Amino acid sequence: MKMRLDRFLSEMGVGTRKHCKKAIRSEKVLIDGNIITDEGFLFDPEKNKVTLDGKLLTYQREFYILMNKPQGYMCSTIDELYPSVLNLIDPSLKKRARIVGRLDADTTGVLLITDNGKLNNRLIHPNLGIEKEYVAELNHPLGEKDRLKLLLEGVVLDEGEEAIKPASLTLLSPLEADIIVKEGKYHEIKRMFHRFGYDVMSLRRIRLGFLVLGDLKEGEMRNLSPEEVLNLKKLVGMES
Ligand code: URA
Repeated sequence: MKMRLDRFLSEMGVGTRKHCKKAIRSEKVLIDGNIITDEGFLFDPEKNKVTLDGKLLTYQREFYILMNKPQGYMCSTIDELYPSVLNLIDPSLKKRARIVGRLDADTTGVLLITDNGKLNNRLIHPNLGIEKEYVAELNHPLGEKDRLKLLLEGVVLDEGEEAIKPASLTLLSPLEADIIVKEGKYHEIKRMFHRFGYDVMSLRRIRLGFLVLGDLKEGEMRNLSPEEVLNLKKLVGMES
């Protein structure tokens, strides 16, 4: 199947279509060893080899975008009070995109966006208990008594349900807590701390399973490597 070069680059998570066109015009992109400056150049991504700045871009039919979600975007498929995070990815992927779990508009950090519906469903399934790690900045220092109580007894977030306990809760500084949870409930972290009289002033997800932010700055994204995709599938018990 033939594809335009600028579309290929943006589907590979290189950046916006505009950014990709610029890279092509700047002679940074080679197909089978030849510099291509025509952004609409048609080629077969399954047969031809594309490099950007000397790095090989391996074509993936399915897409797996790891984003450092910035503030001011919602994890919904449509724009509501805030624009959807899907406005940040290539428009051609938007229709197929599933957002794995929900982060609040003011939460930043690790967010996975994929078109693999099965993987999405598994990752968010409560029985699998995939770890999610956050750094929460609180409005006043977290007392040791509260930390232990929250960790050992947990909190009932929804009436009639069992108390949920963080898998870990450690202090990074008096106002900053590192918290790991295995559920994915609505406003989970904010509600947990709130029950103990703390407001969460800022919240950053630093890990989803084994996926971490690495060098990604807020608003930046990258495609998962084939190895990461394989490991993610293994993590949720999928064959391929
Ligand atoms: N818990 C919250 O309170 N907010 C998030 O965005 C994620 C987890």
